Amino acid sequence: MMRIDKYLAEMGQGTRSEIKKLIRSGRVMVDGETVKKPELKIDETTQKVSLEGKQIGYTKKEYYMLYKPAGVISATKDDRDKTVLDLITDKKRNDLFPVGRLDKDTEGLLLITNDGELAHRLLSPAHHVDKQYYALVEGELPADAVSQMEQGVTLEDGTVTRPARLELLPEKEGEFTKTLLTIHEGKFHQVKRMFEALGCKVVFLKRLSMGNLVLDPELETGAYRPLTEGELTNLRIMTGMED
Ligand code: URA
Repeated sequence: MMRIDKYLAEMGQGTRSEIKKLIRSGRVMVDGETVKKPELKIDETTQKVSLEGKQIGYTKKEYYMLYKPAGVISATKDDRDKTVLDLITDKKRNDLFPVGRLDKDTEGLLLITNDGELAHRLLSPAHHVDKQYYALVEGELPADAVSQMEQGVTLEDGTVTRPARLELLPEKEGEFTKTLLTIHEGKFHQVKRMFEALGCKVVFLKRLSMGNLVLDPELETGAYRPLTEGELTNLRIMTGMED
């Protein structure tokens, strides 16, 4: 059971005080009857709520796979820049957030949800969730780049990263080297800083996967879709929320 004003606020229908006004002015119906008390408790699992004639279903958790484009920021709100949440246009809930951050100029896989426990588990160092990136790199990589990454590299501030797996793709793009780098942690600008430690500059970065969640090749840049049941179950299994 929950209050009708909370129900509508969680479903992104306005602020709590805007919603109270809408309810008091008779715009909300529960099971076909107008209700005027914001504190009215309803059963969100069985009762039908409508606002100005439009039915508003209740969803507890939402999960979206977004192909983040460059130029938007991994935040829920920003005064200047477009955020990843602005791209999820048919979300139902008002409490979604991105799981972790990609830099403004980084593209690729981003999970958007309101499931705090799953997010925490995916980001927690204890779970060592692998993240694979495609990085286009400028400058000559040292001959032992793969083994340096395998041993962990020392960043400019003295921190040593955990071992990472570097794969050099055979073809070049102009003078740039195409690489795949898999890391197990998520330090600030980690991939860029790891290549910097090897004397190179990342000129393009795209996240391909996060654990067993892989960016859908059918998604266009900037597009998103709900996670499938299978993807969600696999994430829950991977993070120990289900066996
Ligand atoms: N590493 C980076 O340097 N940037 C990102 O956005 C993600 C990982």
